[in-house]
Amino acid sequence: MKLITAVVRPERVQQVKEALFQAGISGITLSRVSGHGGEQSIVEHYRGTRVMVEFHDKVEFRMAVSEPFVQAAIDAICKGARTGEVGDGKIFVQPMERVIRIRTGEEDTAALTPVTETKLTPDHL
Ligand SMILES: Nc1ncnc2c1ncn2[C@@H]1O[C@H](COP(=O)(O)OP(=O)(O)OP(=O)(O)O)[C@@H](O)[C@H]1O
Ligand SMILES: [Mg+2]
Repeated sequence: MKLITAVVRPERVQQVKEALFQAGISGITLSRVSGHGGEQSIVEHYRGTRVMVEFHDKVEFRMAVSEPFVQAAIDAICKGARTGEVGDGKIFVQPMERVIRIRTGEEDTAALTPVTETKLTPDHL
């Protein structure tokens, strides 16, 4: 299992979501973040301290996936997020030790498998 974190442009969020859903990945957390990449920073002095001023609005996707979905997730994120211009973002892949589905107590890969036996209504999501 891996935890995949991807930082992308806000305007590409819809395309990334669609590509992930097409790849069969539906357990996703999204956050608005602000970030700075590898570019040269413009620095300003504030009360004697040097501070970076160019932070950009980005969106961070986080998803825990089982091994067979790792490359598919990476491909989907790249497909949805790439414009070819600087600032397209980055994907980080980390080992994931444990996952627990709170409702059932299922663990690890079982906890990552989509729930099919329950009738899903918006209240369940
Ligand atoms: N090493 C890093 N650690 C944590 N977050 C990062 C790192 N590199 C990039 N990010 C995040 O990703 C966002 C987008 O990064 P960005 O695409 O500019 O990376 P880059 O390395 O500068 O590549 P590019 O040359 O394509 O711009 C940043 O604003 C930041 O939120
Ligand atoms: Mg950059």
